[in-house]
Amino acid sequence: MSDPRPTSAFHTANVDLAATERLTAALDVQAANPGVRRLRAWAHERLAARPGERALDVGCGTGSETRVLANAVAPDGSATGVEPHPGLRAVAERRAAEAGSPARFLDGDALALPLPDAGVDVVWCERVLQHLDDPARAVAEIARVLCPGGRVALLDTDWATFVLHPADPEIRPALSTAVRAAAATPDAGRRLTGWLAGAGLSVDELGSDVLLHDPRTVSRPIVQGIAAAARAKDLITEEQRDRLLAGLDEAAGRGAFHLSVTMFAAVAHRPR
Ligand SMILES: C[S@@+](CC[C@H](N)C(=O)[O-])C[C@H]1O[C@@H](n2cnc3c(N)ncnc32)[C@H](O)[C@@H]1O
Repeated sequence: MSDPRPTSAFHTANVDLAATERLTAALDVQAANPGVRRLRAWAHERLAARPGERALDVGCGTGSETRVLANAVAPDGSATGVEPHPGLRAVAERRAAEAGSPARFLDGDALALPLPDAGVDVVWCERVLQHLDDPARAVAEIARVLCPGGRVALLDTDWATFVLHPADPEIRPALSTAVRAAAATPDAGRRLTGWLAGAGLSVDELGSDVLLHDPRTVSRPIVQGIAAAARAKDLITEEQRDRLLAGLDEAAGRGAFHLSVTMFAAVAHRPR
């Protein structure tokens, strides 16, 4: 039986304060991924936030990119992170204070941003749309708060590009289904430009990078999570799960393990 409710811990329906530490650790691991770092650097360069501008980070998590934006708009600009998860927002506030960053953080939802029309120069929204049931509405909200000429960078994963090796061909579709079920909108990556155009924004550039996961550090919990999700949804048997995990461990031991997914970034502006 498949459960239609997104299983992602980042979906607002699943807010769990006790999970803050685990979510923070997951975001820190992702932030250290070379593919994430490259795509972030690319998108920040294209977005080109300047001193004096008003920047917004939608669904800012631990606030790492809000702080980057705050540096870029300093000394007289402003950078605001909107984050509905109280635990993550507290982490963002603490880290900004520790770093001496003027970034500030607001409670709020991407679907109804707590900001007036046309009051923001640059918007960053990374790996949030995949967790929303109505991402097009969130992009329309971003378009609403952007001033004419304002710029936006959307970054998101496309979970249909997920590759895990080795895995028996007979269970690959089940693993794919389990991975996609973990996000409300798992194909967000390929839809970024369409959402931007649909919100009346003009797309300037599309970039991408592949997130390769290192078996020695992060892959084991990810793989266990996927195998557990596939098993919980009755997509694979216990025996198939155990064989998958044993095969992946064995492959990791001889350097033959592979886990990757593609992430996209689209940069656009609001026409004047
Ligand atoms: C995968 S995390 C990404 C965090 C951060 N943007 C980053 O890239 O590190 C997804 C974030 O989206 C937030 N989120 C989920 N639903 C949201 C909503 N409806 N409005 C705004 N943010 C939301 C989560 O709380 C979480 O911080």
